[in-house]
Amino acid sequence: MATEVVHTIAGLRAALAGQHRTAFVPTMGNLHEGHLSLVREARLRGGPVVASIFVNRLQFLPHEDFDRYPRTLARDVELLESAGCDLVFAPDEAELYPEPQAYKVQPPAALADILEGEFRPGFFTGVCTVVLKLFQCVQPAVAVFGQKDYQQLKVITAMARQFALPTEVVGAPTVRAEDGLALSSRNGYLGAAERTEAVALAAALRQLADGARDPGASLPALEQQAAEVLRARGWAPDYLTLRRRSDLLPPGEAERLGTEPLVALGAARLGATRLIDNLEC
Ligand code: PAF
Repeated sequence: MATEVVHTIAGLRAALAGQHRTAFVPTMGNLHEGHLSLVREARLRGGPVVASIFVNRLQFLPHEDFDRYPRTLARDVELLESAGCDLVFAPDEAELYPEPQAYKVQPPAALADILEGEFRPGFFTGVCTVVLKLFQCVQPAVAVFGQKDYQQLKVITAMARQFALPTEVVGAPTVRAEDGLALSSRNGYLGAAERTEAVALAAALRQLADGARDPGASLPALEQQAAEVLRARGWAPDYLTLRRRSDLLPPGEAERLGTEPLVALGAARLGATRLIDNLEC
């Protein structure tokens, strides 16, 4: 069946009337295999499968790539169709934000002002606000997000829990290129040499994860070494850090050396492109 595309909230609601098992994949478009894996995961968990395509101005800082973020709707719809998506919701800004969005969801600073939130202030307020609004439009039983955006998944899971949203939030594994680079829409900004170099971020996180439980190394030293490796290769790291998976705070020494589930998280700029990745350990 051909994938239907709707651009209005009214059209979306009409298309979904009477559905109770809708599975939802929110995206900003410019899709790649990682997004398609989310659609396939959604298919396993419910139906119809709805994907949204909306580049959300609220989650970009003024100097970031909102304007140049690729808008590739026709190609995206073809890809979504090939992955088994039933319905695409592609509103324009006037549809989703017909008036300035004065009501916003402010996630707790302890979770949202660290890591990505430290370097992109307000980012998670923008994300939570649009996700809550999209959930209101789609009314999904389940929504699938990539673990590549590890902190985003945590923030949205907690938002759904705290607001008792009737939507199960599910995380799906990061899809990687053959060399180990996590797939990301922003990889498209990389030149050929940068694309070859880009896998160094995953390698630095692997180095951090491998040293995570080493009693002979301190946590700050491990993190500094990982950042140094990238710096020496011409990157500008924002953070490379080892955190507890549960709340993304730094582990105590006993936790680090024990069995506390940890995650290595990193964000770094390569030329003009900022990449993020993570590795559970
Ligand atoms: O992960 C993304 O692509 C975006 O942050 C999301 C969840 C679609 C909200 O705009």
